[in-house]
Amino acid sequence: MEAFTYKYPVQVYFGEQAAARSLPKELERIGQNVLLAYGGGSIKKNGVYDELRSILQNAGKTVTEFSGIMPNPTYAKVQQGAALAREHGIDFILAVGGGSVIDCCKIISAQAKLDADIWDFEYAQHGSPTDFIPMGAVVTAFGTGAEMNNGAVITNEEKKQKSPLWGAFYDFAILDPVYTMTMPMLQVMSGAFDSLSHCMEEYMGTPRTGNLTDELNEATQRSIIRNIRATLQTPQDKNVRSELMWAAAVAENGMLKIGKTTDFQCHMLEHQLGAYTDCNHGQGLAVLHPALYRRYLPEAAPQFARLATEVWGVDPNGKTEKELAEAFLNALSAFIREAGLPTALSEMGIPEDTDYAAIARSTIRTGGCIKKFDDQYLIDVLKECI
Ligand code: NZQ
Ligand code: ZN
Repeated sequence: MEAFTYKYPVQVYFGEQAAARSLPKELERIGQNVLLAYGGGSIKKNGVYDELRSILQNAGKTVTEFSGIMPNPTYAKVQQGAALAREHGIDFILAVGGGSVIDCCKIISAQAKLDADIWDFEYAQHGSPTDFIPMGAVVTAFGTGAEMNNGAVITNEEKKQKSPLWGAFYDFAILDPVYTMTMPMLQVMSGAFDSLSHCMEEYMGTPRTGNLTDELNEATQRSIIRNIRATLQTPQDKNVRSELMWAAAVAENGMLKIGKTTDFQCHMLEHQLGAYTDCNHGQGLAVLHPALYRRYLPEAAPQFARLATEVWGVDPNGKTEKELAEAFLNALSAFIREAGLPTALSEMGIPEDTDYAAIARSTIRTGGCIKKFDDQYLIDVLKECI
């Protein structure tokens, strides 16, 4: 295991009625001016907006709204939010939504306190922001685990780059599974698959020999797979939804990264696919993972074989390591179909003439990946997925 430092700063309130139980107390500790940030309006349809507005009103807060944060949030939207936060002297940001709203607010919180353009500050000057507007997250779409970490994935449309930026950790996160019950089923599946992908990306990093972190990871993957299947059987089961929501948080709270350099190469490729096509994150991963992982062979055979037996329940009797690794790849592909997720870019409406060469060229290569992919390798992966 590699050396590590681990500190966990986010207070988590989990379960039904979590907002009613926790938010009034949290609001006592914060300043007067609150930025209420949300997406395209799902919270107005399912009652979450009304509930939160009334808690804010009872606390006597002055509320400024920042709405319309889109899936795959843009850098322009971050700048708009930061300008609004400055203009209204915002003391606290309450982010209500899925990964997109939660990510966008992490960077608004930093940019509002920073004179420099934060993209240049982080990428050109290699700076790390240290001053933030404090924030709370109310999760309405699970999967990314974005509420648990301080990384944000932002699409810079000018630069055609969807890349990580580093912002603040949330002071608290409210995870009420009931808030997620109105998610469309395809988004439930793409969120849950994103969580599974996070586990796999962490697992496939270095060291590759297996340790406590990997064993916790295997348990998390088994749980996600079991509960995706349970969701297919009983879509409105709140307990099943709770399990998926917490697994998503566990996959991104840093525990499964301890002592490892993670992989996340599939994520980097999918993010660039998103930069060029604005595609859905979890669905992009579902299409790319099998094709990319087939190219991890033969180097990754020991890890894939372990996944086959420990996660996917493949009987190892009479099988070589290579056969087990193949069995894992087959199980993963079959599961993606079973979950109703897309298996080709065309199923996601991505046109055949997309500039795959530009996507490959602009994809960040990760240190923990078992392979060093050149551009052509990634172009081939993308074209195979058409
Ligand atoms: O905008 P509204 O109207 O709210 O609709 C949203 C959106 O259209 C809808 N939705 C959310 N809660 C709902 C709901 N619809 C009905 N009922 C509800 N309760 O769901 C749609 C998708 O929302 P979005 O936030 O975009 O989805 P997700 O949570 O999958 O977030 C994706 C973003 O997170 C980034 C992705 O790259 C992508 O930009 N990621 C962030 C990570 C992180 N910070 O740790 C890690 C991930 O790997 C990922 O890259
Ligand atoms: Zn992800």
